[in-house]
Amino acid sequence: MKIISVANQKGGCGKTTLAVNVAAALARLGSETLLIDLDPQGHATFAMGYAKEASEKKTSYDIFRGYFDNEKTVYPELVMNDRTRLSFIPANMMLSAAEINLGSVTGAASILYKVLSDQYFRRFDYVIIDSPPSFGFLTLNSMYAADMIVVPMDLSYFSFNGINGVYRVTGLLKSEIGRNPQVYFAMNIFDQRSNFAKQFEGDARKKLGPYLLSNKVRSSVRLREAAKAGKTIFEYDPKSTAALDFYNLTSELITVDMKNADVIVREFALHAPQAGSVYVLGDFNNWQKSESNMLTKLETGQWSGHFTLGKGRHRYKFLVDDEWHNDPHNPAVEANVFGGADSIIEF
Ligand SMILES: Nc1ncnc2c1ncn2[C@@H]1O[C@H](COP(=O)(O)OP(=O)(O)O)[C@@H](O)[C@H]1O
Ligand SMILES: [Mg+2]
Repeated sequence: MKIISVANQKGGCGKTTLAVNVAAALARLGSETLLIDLDPQGHATFAMGYAKEASEKKTSYDIFRGYFDNEKTVYPELVMNDRTRLSFIPANMMLSAAEINLGSVTGAASILYKVLSDQYFRRFDYVIIDSPPSFGFLTLNSMYAADMIVVPMDLSYFSFNGINGVYRVTGLLKSEIGRNPQVYFAMNIFDQRSNFAKQFEGDARKKLGPYLLSNKVRSSVRLREAAKAGKTIFEYDPKSTAALDFYNLTSELITVDMKNADVIVREFALHAPQAGSVYVLGDFNNWQKSESNMLTKLETGQWSGHFTLGKGRHRYKFLVDDEWHNDPHNPAVEANVFGGADSIIEF
């Protein structure tokens, strides 16, 4: 299990948008994912469409509650799981009571870490935590629990203050308790045409080096609309540039995260503007035609999809309107048992 905390003390830089849509992309890429709203404002709860439920059921407040009253928390009661591979723990204003009460609890910063090490949470491949815009106990819990911290930055030089804040906390985590999460930075609300954006990227690259993720999330009104509709971008508009940006960013996060592991995330793409459906089928998905192996059509007529592949050699083909095609961008092919040939990929 990997725990990813999304944090930056600057409000409005895209923490919630990033947490929700990275979690959704991870689920789509095949990982069992848990998203936790750890902000009393409950923005992720709204964005996931659970505003009503959060007022009636248990919330992330109940993660902490057992530590200052004697009520035992039953973990399955916290988790909503009506989406495929994407579970969720909501938040509401009650959580600000935790922020206040934690001040008098010893070991208050490590509660979430301890809770997530419970057997119950082992079934998740990823836990994503949306943090509030302040460095109180909630953010501290989020960062303490994390294997990786992702810091979204809008293109404002105030974002650099956020960077210093995060480094201060991770410095403390390391020196005081030996936790050593990797910190990565993601540019959000990026307008690639503006000179300002280019200059900002240059400055950020100088400051952050390889810890600045290469994929950025462009500015897109679809993200605002999706949040308002209580949907992830993949539910609201899977063909948008924003959905593509989040796939790419998430793929980079997985790869950066698994530098030494034996998997890659690879994009499969085919230009087929006239086609009604395109699947990528191969030994990595048992040649099974299913919704999750279908590519998404972009406005350009390009079909695109991302798949996680294990190390080794793989055969695949595109299924375009029920006709088999090899990958025109991949010269590596090999004869198959049906008298035809398959595209080959190896790493
Ligand atoms: N890439 C983007 N393009 C357009 N709007 C965005 C983008 N990212 C975030 N927003 C919008 O900006 C506002 C602040 O984003 P949010 O994720 O809530 O930030 P934070 O959680 O850091 O306060 C929200 O209304 C959100 O919909
Ligand atoms: Mg937020």
